Amino acid sequence: VPHIAAVLQRAAELKAMSRASDRAFVTAPAAGKHAGGATLPQSLAGRNIAIIFAKRSTRTRVASETSVAGLGGHPLFLSPADIQLGVNESLFDTSKVVSSMCDGIMARVGGHDEIELLAKHSRVPVINALSARYHPTQILADLLTMLEDEVIGGGPSSSLASLQGVKVAWIGDSNNILADMLVAMPRLGMHLSVAVPKGYKRDEHVWRDMEAGLKEETAYAKGRVSWGNDPLEALKDADVVVTDTWISMGDEAQKEQRLRDFAGFQITEDLLRRGGAKANARFMHCLPRKPDEVDDEVFYGPRSIVFEEAENRKWSIMALFDAYFGRWEKA
Ligand code: CP
Ligand code: NVA
Repeated sequence: VPHIAAVLQRAAELKAMSRASDRAFVTAPAAGKHAGGATLPQSLAGRNIAIIFAKRSTRTRVASETSVAGLGGHPLFLSPADIQLGVNESLFDTSKVVSSMCDGIMARVGGHDEIELLAKHSRVPVINALSARYHPTQILADLLTMLEDEVIGGGPSSSLASLQGVKVAWIGDSNNILADMLVAMPRLGMHLSVAVPKGYKRDEHVWRDMEAGLKEETAYAKGRVSWGNDPLEALKDADVVVTDTWISMGDEAQKEQRLRDFAGFQITEDLLRRGGAKANARFMHCLPRKPDEVDDEVFYGPRSIVFEEAENRKWSIMALFDAYFGRWEKA
């Protein structure tokens, strides 16, 4: 918990620094000299960061590359089309070689065992940019977005304590996004009510990680978690409603079956009203979005904070890079 709090605080600081420097730039050019103002710390100066993505990405990739550049480092974006990995070379060998030349690795992989293998054999820190089991950087951005939101948290720069007692409803798949919410939110005192279609099971590994996290001694009361199959039940009194695609990367072959299984799960104003979500409940989605899981009225409507959430991928990833890949002198 202290670690999550530190990363979120740093993310908010970096966001504010960047905004201040943008403002200085907008108001100063008439002076004919460099705008000055607050600039980002150059903690990655002279550092090379490998961004190895085995799957597609818009947000995580753009956030990662721009964060490395913003902190003064050099990003190397490496897709399967660029490097030998997956075609000609093992993950083990790739980890050894890339980590011998770079100062950090951000990696999006298939199975979670792949990120573990990469981390195990790397000489430099490895950050999970999404695996089939978890998507940790997404949930950091979600928490930052909730904190900043006046309705859910305490507004910009508020502390994690303001999320205590917030009720989050998940109406969707038992996937990597939900998994990270399960391991992060209840330990911060947030309640989570989950509705997944019948037959969609919880990941027992994730459940064990969640229970282990709940044993941590913190200043916060622990949140409650409920798991069921009825979206209406899960929505009751929700402060935040969250969903994601029903067809994650790798699930494409099950598309037709999944569209049938998720009947009744599309988030609409009517569903929110019938389920009894709070009148000012917020809507969140990690994106990319398909209209199956949420209609346009909610997705583009006043309760949606999805684009703030997307932008916050950058500030939370930048905070992680600053902390894990940055060059810091001992205090
Ligand atoms: N939310 C998210 O991870 O988006 P990308 O797949 O575009 O990176
Ligand atoms: N659950 C989705 C998240 C994409 C950011 C997937 O794994 O494809």
